[in-house]
Amino acid sequence: MTGRYQEIYDRSISDKEGFWADAAEGISWYRKWDRVLDDSNAPFYRWFTGGEVNTCYNALDRHIENGRGDQAALIYDSPVTDTVQTFTYSQMRDEVARLAGALHARGVTKGDRVIIYMPMIPQAAMAMLACARIGAIHSVVFGGFASNELATRINDAKPKMILSASCGIEGSRVIEYKPLLDKAIAMADHKPESVILYQRPQSDALLIDGRDYDWAVECAKAAPSDCVPVAATDPLYILYTSGTTGQPKGVVRDNGGHMVALNWSMKNIYDVEAGDVYWAASDVGWVVGHSYIVYAPLLAGCTTVMYEGKPVGTPDAGAFWRVISQHKVKVLFTAPTAFRAIKRDDPKAAHMANYDLSSLKALYLAGERSDPDTLQWAENSLGVPVIDHWWQTETGWSICANPRGIELLPIKYGSPTVAACGWDIQVLDEAGKPLERGKIGALAAKLPLPPGTLPTLWQNEDRFKSSYLEEFPGFYATGDAGFIDEDGYIYVMSRTDDIINVAGHRLSTGAMEEVLSGHQDVAECAVIGVHDDLKGQLPLGFIVLKSGVTRPHDAILSEVVAMVRDQIGPVAAFKQATVVDRLPKTRSGKILRKTMRSIADGESYNTPATIDDPAILPEIAEALKEIGYAK
Ligand code: COA
Ligand code: AMP
Repeated sequence: MTGRYQEIYDRSISDKEGFWADAAEGISWYRKWDRVLDDSNAPFYRWFTGGEVNTCYNALDRHIENGRGDQAALIYDSPVTDTVQTFTYSQMRDEVARLAGALHARGVTKGDRVIIYMPMIPQAAMAMLACARIGAIHSVVFGGFASNELATRINDAKPKMILSASCGIEGSRVIEYKPLLDKAIAMADHKPESVILYQRPQSDALLIDGRDYDWAVECAKAAPSDCVPVAATDPLYILYTSGTTGQPKGVVRDNGGHMVALNWSMKNIYDVEAGDVYWAASDVGWVVGHSYIVYAPLLAGCTTVMYEGKPVGTPDAGAFWRVISQHKVKVLFTAPTAFRAIKRDDPKAAHMANYDLSSLKALYLAGERSDPDTLQWAENSLGVPVIDHWWQTETGWSICANPRGIELLPIKYGSPTVAACGWDIQVLDEAGKPLERGKIGALAAKLPLPPGTLPTLWQNEDRFKSSYLEEFPGFYATGDAGFIDEDGYIYVMSRTDDIINVAGHRLSTGAMEEVLSGHQDVAECAVIGVHDDLKGQLPLGFIVLKSGVTRPHDAILSEVVAMVRDQIGPVAAFKQATVVDRLPKTRSGKILRKTMRSIADGESYNTPATIDDPAILPEIAEALKEIGYAK
């Protein structure tokens, strides 16, 4: 490949320090770094050591100082409450400074953790920025998780305070957050000192005397806090993501490298600049929400759209087009599942005719593999480039993308295009040897990873090493499998572990299995991800009952479904399970989940040579046919 991208990319690999030092000029520093890339403790790398910054200052205050105070920073668009509200950079800074003051008044200081358990309202973004302003480390927990998951995160992060709201709104349903929060705090061994709760008009939560405080009251009496300089390498946030067990991984993000990479990405990957309107239709509980609803657009001086609604049903499949035209969105970023939902409800994209979509220049998709059908449908209907890009919670920004801001490369359906600057992606075999072009293997990134990526897992360096660095020494193992074609285009095909992707949400089948095994009648179990036309994958459970259990299977199955909803949350979308006599295993006792998945999806499969008893596979196929799979 030749051209502008190739030239810039090559420099990002051959002169990492020069490349990222140049990009760091886009950020304001209290003190510049001593070293751009600190490799003194490899394989743990740090970016911009010695530097001092503040992320909130860069996201808000400096734009006001540069004359953008009256520009919209955040547009809150909530069809579920019939609200559209705009906050200028000045208004946003004032709200955030007061909230930061309220946090400070309740004892939160630099390095303290604050959990944010909130719906898609502007106060959630303000909460994140308020923490950043005083150097506190936030950890946002997605609203669709149950109390048990929240409790696990409380125990790991040990927050001094929790910020929450009285409710979330899912379509027409009001979801009370306070009972979930109270239950989580009761379950957790660690107890936060205080809760500051934002009362929404749709629900008035009961506050516990001496622990819970009203957001509006606290902010009204607080003195605004100024930005506190922190080390570039200090954590900005912890974001928990699914691992292969029920214990989530606390991905840590630093301040300096994170800002440099996100700010760089806005121009070079998304081709947006200060003043442009950028919309990531995701949730602040996910990494996409952290990076591209809150931090990146604000760091770049854009206007970010925060949308509290769904792609369909709020009120119809024209919702996205309404938001684009009303707010003059230049770039939209969402998950393919959202477009599958729109395509399902409005296959001819008839709703589009009602809106002026001329502001939209590109659509970016991520979170799961983009099926070429959906991608082409979006491209044909919108008439703009549709760009699939690949990333993970761990990486914070894209590993692979079409670098539209540098040069729009030809789109190949099914590929998120090429490695982003700073990423040296290789396909390795099981022994860690690079594979030739076209061969499928493990996708791994040569160390050091670029700025903005995880420096470690929260207080768990051992797990960081064992999860990502040990499989292929000198590389970060992404956990994804794929290949690179003759033109250098990367294809991401599947996970190499038991993580599944449901509606763009990353879930651990291991965590669901831990819940199922907790049922009194279950002897053993397996959960696999089966293909779903809308959500990409759905979890499906298999349970083997303890001998002597005579209760009706239906009752047991409803109980396990309810347990997953109660212990992991509705977002797991675990709605189906079946009883089988036994599970297919290797001779060493490993459950053959991949083979089960192939049978369920009706794909051809080879009976593994290591299987203990091949006669089980037809039994599994039979059980799957009875519930509508294995066709
Ligand atoms: N708080 C409480 N409950 C939540 C929630 C939240 N923040 N988010 C989701 N849920 C619930 C939903 O109400 C649903 O509950 P139900 O089983 O009672 O119906 C369940 O969790 C599953 O949610 P979801 O997977 O979102 O399914 P859905 O049927 O409500 O909507 C889509 C399907 C495709 C429209 C929806 O998943 C979507 O818009 N996805 C966009 C993808 C996205 O934002 N991905 C983030 C990564 S980029
Ligand atoms: P998450 O950490 O929730 O962002 O999920 C990350 C995982 O989602 C990746 O490891 C991939 O398995 C999958 N993923 C994200 N983006 C893509 C993409 N563009 N193509 C294929 N898979 C993707």
